[in-house]
Amino acid sequence: MIPTIVATGRFTVVGIASNAETALDECKRLNPHVLIAGTDFQSPDVWHLVRKAQALHNVAVVLVGGSQDTAFLRRAMQSGAKDFLFEPLKAEEVIASLDQVRDSGGLANGAEPLEAKPQGKIITIFGTKGGVGKSFIAANVASSAQIQSKKRCVIVDLDLEFGCLAALFGLRPRASIVDLCRTEGQIEPETVEKVLMQAQPSLDLRVLVSPPTPDLAAEVEGEGRRVKGRSYVTDILSCLKQSYDYIFVDTASSFRETNIAALDMSDVILVVTAPDIPTLQNTGKCLDILLEAFKYPQEKVLVALNRADGGAGLTTEDIARGLQYSIKYELPSDGRNVTWSANCGRPLIVERPKTPVAEAVNAMASGLIWQVTNERAKDKPARSHRRRGVLDWLTSRK
Ligand SMILES: Nc1ncnc2c1ncn2[C@@H]1O[C@H](COP(=O)(O)OP(=O)(O)OP(=O)(O)O)[C@@H](O)[C@H]1O
Ligand SMILES: [Mg+2]
Repeated sequence: MIPTIVATGRFTVVGIASNAETALDECKRLNPHVLIAGTDFQSPDVWHLVRKAQALHNVAVVLVGGSQDTAFLRRAMQSGAKDFLFEPLKAEEVIASLDQVRDSGGLANGAEPLEAKPQGKIITIFGTKGGVGKSFIAANVASSAQIQSKKRCVIVDLDLEFGCLAALFGLRPRASIVDLCRTEGQIEPETVEKVLMQAQPSLDLRVLVSPPTPDLAAEVEGEGRRVKGRSYVTDILSCLKQSYDYIFVDTASSFRETNIAALDMSDVILVVTAPDIPTLQNTGKCLDILLEAFKYPQEKVLVALNRADGGAGLTTEDIARGLQYSIKYELPSDGRNVTWSANCGRPLIVERPKTPVAEAVNAMASGLIWQVTNERAKDKPARSHRRRGVLDWLTSRK
């Protein structure tokens, strides 16, 4: 593994130590940027080592633990270590971790500390109908936003029971949002950072994955919460706003509490719909709730029509008239390429950027970035006063 790390040309291995005491001596002597503390150090000394290496020698520590060791995970998150990895170690995971520590300002020697940027913008991909393409769009639009803007971008999977962002990015999660909900006291941006994963080796996008099994969702929202009634999602998104420029949120198809927390904090909500009557009826009700009940301003709620060319006679104009809301973005249907990218675990906009659907996602991503960063871009979608049964027109025209 060490030759692979060195071969990247980005890192140099300056020393090796076989126990915590020697590691501290070597930190003092060699003044490295990072100390990777392997399982050899899994004595009680390791927590002491983390504190000392960082406090005395200004060295960032990456901890290595046994796989599935949840006690280690919890302790590691609270230990002050900059990142943690599980055995068996893979060279590319170690490289990604070192990159992450460097990018987050965690390379203590000579690097700037993590800068607080309270202006991060939240874009939530939402819709109350299942299977309309929310996750595909969320993963690709977040990837595209990072590539185009080159800013700090993160995507959060709030489909707590059946989230699929880890699969869409081909990730093997080592921790998830549920681990953050198990931390004691306040959740800090540095703690959140440790649970994030890099989406792809070549893509500087971070991912906060959903719990590994559906029953754990109750620890984020519901009876299993460590602190009853606490909105962990609000706390986590507030942390991300401090250290990321653009925060994308993928959601489950419902007005559950965690979704509402994200919707409330969002700068833009992208409502995904599709050109069939059941989905459009559902979207009509969803817009009623967002605009009439929650009273979100129109400029915060944008509609994207996925598989726009699959309407079998329903045009985009018909749909906008039926919804009494403008369609801001349209994506074509492309089952072959979209399924191929999901099966590879790689975003379509990265692998096949010239396909019409990838080009449509790229245009959507640049439009969304522009929308959240330019006050004047908040043009109001054309919408008259919403009437009940507005979709009757669409249903009756058949
Ligand atoms: N433009 C598209 N063309 C073809 N297939 C698509 C397109 N967008 C999404 N799909 C496919 O549709 C299916 C549902 O997509 P996705 O999982 O993103 O929807 P979702 O709204 O997140 O679903 P859920 O509500 O279950 O989370 C997937 O198989 C996906 O590959
Ligand atoms: Mg989904």
